[in-house]
Amino acid sequence: MSNSVEQQKRKVFDLKTIEVENVSRIFRISSEKEILALDDVSLHVKEGEVFGLLGPNGAGKTTLIKILATLLLPSKGRAFVAGHDVVKEPAKVRRVINLVSGGETPGYGSITTRENLWFFSQLYGLPKGESMKRIAKLSEDLALQEYLNTRTHKLSTGYRQRLNLARGLINDPKVLFLDEPTLGLDVITAKRIREIVRNRVKNGSGNSILITTHYMVEADQICDRIAIIDRGRMIALGTPAELKKMVSKQTIVSIETQPIDGGMDFMSSIAGVNGYSQTDEPSTGRIKLKVVLNEEGALQNVIHAVSARGRIFEIAKSEPTLEDVYIALVGKGFE
Ligand SMILES: Nc1ncnc2c1ncn2[C@@H]1O[C@H](COP(=O)(O)OP(=O)(O)O)[C@@H](O)[C@H]1O
Ligand SMILES: [Mg+2]
Repeated sequence: MSNSVEQQKRKVFDLKTIEVENVSRIFRISSEKEILALDDVSLHVKEGEVFGLLGPNGAGKTTLIKILATLLLPSKGRAFVAGHDVVKEPAKVRRVINLVSGGETPGYGSITTRENLWFFSQLYGLPKGESMKRIAKLSEDLALQEYLNTRTHKLSTGYRQRLNLARGLINDPKVLFLDEPTLGLDVITAKRIREIVRNRVKNGSGNSILITTHYMVEADQICDRIAIIDRGRMIALGTPAELKKMVSKQTIVSIETQPIDGGMDFMSSIAGVNGYSQTDEPSTGRIKLKVVLNEEGALQNVIHAVSARGRIFEIAKSEPTLEDVYIALVGKGFE
């Protein structure tokens, strides 16, 4: 009886591979200046979950990943990875994790892809046969076979990032941290990486992945749950569907206009406008506005204000996306 209670307890505990409790991180820039990079963040990641940290540049995503990967200490709060305290038991944490960052140069440029993977497999103390098996499997999954004998400084950005990911998976980590893994990559490589991410957590493997991104569509596609962070604070948490439900009572419209003299600041003062974002469309020279409205009636105000300043080419209502959730919460889009 007591045994089964014990087991139950452990099982529940094991379900969470990452636990973040009220974590803050302050960077002291000078005697007068401090940056609060993380402000009282709490979240957990379950076994088998792909969990996304979504936020603009400077939101604190990398800071949180570095704390969990034992590369940086929290200023306040506690965090656990696979049940181990990241501050008190960093060696135990390191044994079960791996970290891949976007845009990093992998390993050593003057040795080949195969030699790099071999080197890292040996750092993890893998037996020879097992190392060769994993290198073969990972090169197949990432379509790296043709490049196994290429010196890595000769690889394109896309293949370099495939190698990075292969290196990140060589120890079959229970928890994998991916920090903007598809940053600046071609469409095909980015797609391949997303597939690998999804496949890794399939079939009850119990592996989990914490991924940061500022690509909303990517977060929507591959994450089971997402925390949206902005200036160090977590402003929303849920499945993509739950997050989009937050804006289901609002009206979202896309408007294509001419570039408008004096910018779009006037938008924030229109009654009924919850927030907006603006993207330049270089191919047409037009501007695409995404506007989140409290109620449909406010659309008239927006059309009136915009058309007084420039020509409107197109207006369309759209289904809520994660971008709209962010706009509704913060009042503007990323950047
Ligand atoms: N080592 C550091 N020293 C000082 N400030 C830092 C350091 N690392 C990050 N920051 C600051 O902390 C904030 C969060 O940064 P970061 O975690 O890198 O954000 P993100 O990864 O979401 O772009 C930013 O304002 C950044 O300038
Ligand atoms: Mg970052």
